Amino acid sequence: MSKLTLSKIRTFKPEGRKIVVLTVYDYPSARLLDNAGIDWLLVGDSLGNVVQGKTTTLSVTLDEIIYHAEMVVRAAQQAFVVVDIPFPFCQLGSTEAVRAAARIFKETSADAVKLEGGENRASTIAALVDAGIPVLGHCGLRPQEIRQTGGYFVQRQRELLFQDIKAVENAGAFAVVLECIETELAREATNLLQIPTIGIGAGPFCDGQVLVFHDLLGYKPEQTRTPKHVKQYADLQTIISNAVKNYADDVRNAVFPGMENSF
Ligand code: KIV
Repeated sequence: MSKLTLSKIRTFKPEGRKIVVLTVYDYPSARLLDNAGIDWLLVGDSLGNVVQGKTTTLSVTLDEIIYHAEMVVRAAQQAFVVVDIPFPFCQLGSTEAVRAAARIFKETSADAVKLEGGENRASTIAALVDAGIPVLGHCGLRPQEIRQTGGYFVQRQRELLFQDIKAVENAGAFAVVLECIETELAREATNLLQIPTIGIGAGPFCDGQVLVFHDLLGYKPEQTRTPKHVKQYADLQTIISNAVKNYADDVRNAVFPGMENSF
């Protein structure tokens, strides 16, 4: 299979073909996802939460996202790779956003960038597109605004959402993530737009779905509650814990290394 391009992606919505997206942050995981036929790999700033163990995405730096994105792009032979512009480059305005995205492009060879925001980021999206940088929008719940909003809530404000997604589409984004939006609202939003909607906690009627790699696989350090929007397809926490406990037992009991692992 050849590399997925933007022009091919543009045929998906008219053909009713769902887009499958997963976040990923390192080379071996990205190789596995690419081999499994995942359409888009997103190097999200959820990096801060699931890799760095922080409570928000706000501290992720441009250098850090570039470090991880370079590995993912190198691993992706087929998948389209999107990289988050971390806080606060888009908040600083179009020039800073283009500067940050240009560094992402030059240093990783990613296919596109993602930025959070609606009408308030329309001019920034337009500037990026004008610079030849494809943009994935991100409306609804916006984790970079957590300090302003005070929490992760389901979005129910119909007019505001529609205003935002139309502005993102009109500014030239090729698709938009809808995060934590009531199912019916997300269905209406999907029907309203020509560009695909990629849902996370936005019900089944979006044109595609995205999940965080660690959530999908149950790759977490503690027994925490799985959010309603996540379907956990594996239990890596148990698999990893059992494997390393077995290893520790074997070392302590002089079972490992046996002669079969010795020279
Ligand atoms: O940072 C991220 O991983 C994201 C997805 C959850 C959409 O923005």
